[in-house]
Amino acid sequence: MLRKAIIPAAGIGTRMLPATKAVPKELIPVLDKPVIQYVVEEARAAGIRDILIVINKDKPAIRDHFRKKESLELFLEEKNKLETLENIRNINRGLQIEYAFQEEMNGLGDAIRYGRDFVGDEAFAVLLGDTILRSGNSDPVLGQLIEVFEEKQAAVVALEEVPGAIVHRYGVIDGRALTDRLFEINGLIEKPSVDDAPSNLAIASRYILTPDIFTALEKTSRGYNNEIQLTDAMSLLLQKQAIYGWRFEGQRFDVGNKLGFIKTNLLFGLEDPGLKEELKKWIREL
Ligand code: UTP
Repeated sequence: MLRKAIIPAAGIGTRMLPATKAVPKELIPVLDKPVIQYVVEEARAAGIRDILIVINKDKPAIRDHFRKKESLELFLEEKNKLETLENIRNINRGLQIEYAFQEEMNGLGDAIRYGRDFVGDEAFAVLLGDTILRSGNSDPVLGQLIEVFEEKQAAVVALEEVPGAIVHRYGVIDGRALTDRLFEINGLIEKPSVDDAPSNLAIASRYILTPDIFTALEKTSRGYNNEIQLTDAMSLLLQKQAIYGWRFEGQRFDVGNKLGFIKTNLLFGLEDPGLKEELKKWIREL
């Protein structure tokens, strides 16, 4: 049973500045909900109960979002806004959420290092706090990875096929297809050029890792962008143990860049029963 997850959410979010100067990137809304709340909901739906969110001292608003707010609850109760009250109460229902503070933004691998004590000796999930993954059915994408983990008892990453022209934005794997969706990974490379990329299978914001990653992270020197890369630590781990990739069923929405932010809000708006007709009409008239 996988119970724990780390959500790294300490990055500076330079691609969304100035919006992210005072508002953490992970609190940017998709319709009326911050992106990190979708991420937490995915984790909860997959059976995760304990979450460590890695933030930094300039991002206390993330903690405020998940904290109970008596005054707001009282206000909504008095105004008889009971549905909204229920939504607010649901934000952290059934979850134990803790926080760690990354001191210097030395990359995703460095952020994960802050989870060592929280994780202990259990396998755990990692979900990037700025990306929504939505599966084609009612099962969460993380649940697909957990199934692979339970069968293989080894680390698993979500994979997505991306066009060659944009492989340089991702961690990319070299792998052997075991089925249409399952890959045994032979190598990983962070943000390769199109010529160096061993495939167009990109790591897509979700991981299941074993605690061995912490030893690997200690041995990992700074890589791409002078940061400690999780991908590099996983390459070290690969020398000792198998790592699998799962080409997940569903869609990925990266809200941490302008185009992704607009597309995600537009699509979610077009799917929203209360918004879609007016939104479609407005788009036709543009
Ligand atoms: P990104 O690679 O998108 O980096 O991080 P970033 O700094 O947040 O954004 P840009 O590239 O400057 O626009 C992916 C996830 O990893 C977290 C981020 O918060 C985000 O959820 N992260 C990144 C950390 O927690 N710590 C870091 O040092 C870097």
